[in-house]
Amino acid sequence: MEVVILAAGKGTRMNSDKPKVLHSVGGKAMIEHVLDCAAECQPGRTHVVIGYGGEALKEHLSERPDLNWVNQEQQLGTGHAVQQAMPAVDCNDSENQLLILFGDVPMISATTLKALLSEAGADSLALLTVVTEKPDGFGRIIRDDSSAVQAIVEHKDATAEQLLINEVNTGIMAIPASRLTGWLERIQNNNKQQEYYLTDIVALAVEDGCPVKATQATSEMEVLGVNDKTQLAMLERYYQTMQADKLLAAGVTLKDPARLDVRGSLDCGKDVEIDCNVIFEGDVTLGDAVAIGANCVIKDATIGAGSQILPGTQIEGAEIGAAVNIGPMARIRPGSVIHDKARIGNFVETKQAIIGEGSKANHLAYIGDAELGSGCNIGAGTIFCNYDGANKHKTTLGDNVFVGSNSVLIAPVTLADNSFVAAGSAINTDVPAEHLCVARGKQRNIAGWKRPTKKST
Ligand code: UD1
Ligand code: CA
Repeated sequence: MEVVILAAGKGTRMNSDKPKVLHSVGGKAMIEHVLDCAAECQPGRTHVVIGYGGEALKEHLSERPDLNWVNQEQQLGTGHAVQQAMPAVDCNDSENQLLILFGDVPMISATTLKALLSEAGADSLALLTVVTEKPDGFGRIIRDDSSAVQAIVEHKDATAEQLLINEVNTGIMAIPASRLTGWLERIQNNNKQQEYYLTDIVALAVEDGCPVKATQATSEMEVLGVNDKTQLAMLERYYQTMQADKLLAAGVTLKDPARLDVRGSLDCGKDVEIDCNVIFEGDVTLGDAVAIGANCVIKDATIGAGSQILPGTQIEGAEIGAAVNIGPMARIRPGSVIHDKARIGNFVETKQAIIGEGSKANHLAYIGDAELGSGCNIGAGTIFCNYDGANKHKTTLGDNVFVGSNSVLIAPVTLADNSFVAAGSAINTDVPAEHLCVARGKQRNIAGWKRPTKKST
């Protein structure tokens, strides 16, 4: 079996400079959904027909080297598009099937495709059709009195009577490759759109005595093609509903399944609770009994068992241990490693920072390019000055270091175990273990001082 994915169309109604099939659903380009689904059917080769925005597509998919790119210079119709791929398709093997997919029909499932492929054979064709209340714009499936499929008639070419048919062509079909070249040579463009319609091969197959079977898709959304942003938004909701359903079935508590977005993969342990308006991106893993508060954005992160992420927190590229407490309103940036039982409070930002077990930064701090041992306490208003305007430098804290509020730690600098920094200090020299360090102007209290008074004019 080989796959041909049609993706040459411009997608004018998207009103976008980006090729249509690169618009994403659930954080993944539509064409990638199609490719991943096709891969589950284990095709010999996958051909992608490109035209408009072809270079952008190749670039976006450069990490998939096995694709055969087929250029369709002018978009003369779906039949013409498939024809461009034929020189690379094995047509000698009479068992070889060609599975036609559309790059802008991203929600198709492998289960449906496998069912379709099992319907078609060396000498029969299988169409994926769907019954819809809104057949407008789609090709109609024409059946005879014994309900055998006879042809597909495009909406624009259909008679008033044919327009009443509500079983439509999804565009997805499985075709015996050895027969296809002959049929493609015979199709004409004498229709309303002056295009070479792939759908015309159906009538030709019937003419040649080749049986045409039709498998009906289970849901309309699975086969919905995206032509505009409204349809893209509809599919996004459909996809997110599926993600939420899967999580619920796996035992995750979602305060509102309609207010959750998973743009990537989300792996959850037991008894995970997710509050409203949380967005997950990339690969996220949540351990047992993790609780995520409202309005968090979590990307490419692992969060250990029993940790709580309080509302409004952003986490990206981070590894978070067990029983950690983060937020509300914290920002955990790439390279942050927060060990077990640590606490990162409101308005604290971490970046490239290792926070040791049980260490705390409860409020208002920036911890960048740092390594903290266990049991440290970072006072409110502490800034790790990691950047000198040209280079980044590292700050290292041993275990049980206490940094008083409103201190600046000017990197590179090391504060050894059990050292204690007085509030308001500016530290640019290493502090030895067990020492108190005070680095601020000495306080003077001046007796009898008079406040300035307003000058009379
Ligand atoms: C097509 C089908 C129609 C079906 C509908 C389902 C034909 C003639 N019609 O109509 O029966 O109900 O899909 O959505 O096949 N493409 C190319 N090159 C071309 C033309 C199209 O690569 O020259 C690609 C498009 O990028 C798109 C797909 O083929 O991904 C379908 O093309 P489109 O023009 O949207 O076909 P429809 O008119 O919707
Ligand atoms: Ca279409």
